[in-house]
Amino acid sequence: MTPEIRKAAELLRAGGLVAFPTETVYGLGADASNAKAVARLYAVKGRPADHPVIVHFASAELAFAWAREVPEAARKLAARFWPGPLTLILKRSKLAQDFVTGGQDSVGLRVPSHPVAQELLSSFGGAVAAPSANRFGLVSPTTAAHVREDLGDEVDLVLEGGPSDVGIESTIVDLSGADAVLLRPGGVSQEQLSQLGIIFQARIAESPRHSGGLERHYAPRTPARLVPTHQLDREIAVMKDRVAVLAFSRPDERVDYWLRMPRDPAAYAQRLYAALRELDAANCEMILVEAPPEASEWAAVRDRLRRACAA
Ligand code: TXA
Ligand code: MG
Repeated sequence: MTPEIRKAAELLRAGGLVAFPTETVYGLGADASNAKAVARLYAVKGRPADHPVIVHFASAELAFAWAREVPEAARKLAARFWPGPLTLILKRSKLAQDFVTGGQDSVGLRVPSHPVAQELLSSFGGAVAAPSANRFGLVSPTTAAHVREDLGDEVDLVLEGGPSDVGIESTIVDLSGADAVLLRPGGVSQEQLSQLGIIFQARIAESPRHSGGLERHYAPRTPARLVPTHQLDREIAVMKDRVAVLAFSRPDERVDYWLRMPRDPAAYAQRLYAALRELDAANCEMILVEAPPEASEWAAVRDRLRRACAA
């Protein structure tokens, strides 16, 4: 164990806030059994108190102690995707108190795979509540530098772990009811999930209980718009303001700031949040985003872009 990890675990035990890398995005961690620490976490995030937070563990065994029922589907999913970018919503046990569940009878559980997250969770030993380490509603951080820009010295420690591999948040599967429901597409794709033979009910009406379900979320400050490929050229031609573009094709000279994105969905996801931050910092009047393909492998990226571009 490095001295840095030891210090981070001590800070968590003392009720402090530690930002740490995960394979999806950086998380802002607090001891999930400490009401005061979690209250401070919500205050720093600027997050409403009735929004539940995901609880992180070093292993599935530790995670499942926070659930009072572990259905067969949860065991299968955990065996296949943990540690990794998957969050399971299960009926809570007594360990999951109201201040982490937002008063709901269910709890979100995740076992991340990033080696620094694993070390931190193992040496802390308990449960770490961690939303993404950004201010509520804004773009999630995928580097330690992003976290420092967003939260500065309101965090007691930021652990360095390089850029996040997956780049967008975990897939959330709700198994707390009669049917499995996909609440948020993410790091584990729908194809990967369907290989396990679990049947998912179509996503029900988005509720604010699940903050990713709020329409404008993961959003830059600059107004952003999704534009179909065949309209991009025309949109650029009629723009009078300074415009920044996120697209698959080569830069256009009429555009002030252009970022070219990969045509592979995983590579695109990995770069997405850093790209949105960069375009936001370019201080243009508008960000135009070329819409990605309709294919299901792009579902998670499309979901984040749709929210980033919601008015
Ligand atoms: O990849 C991730 O999941 C990252 C990293 C840090 O692990 N975390 C993350 O946390 O995205 P956060 O808090 O930004 O988003 C958690 C989502 C929210 O939409 C929250 O409402 C939902 O999970 N959630 C948590 N517990 C829930 C529950 N019991 N029922 C429904 N939704 C829940
Ligand atoms: Mg978030």
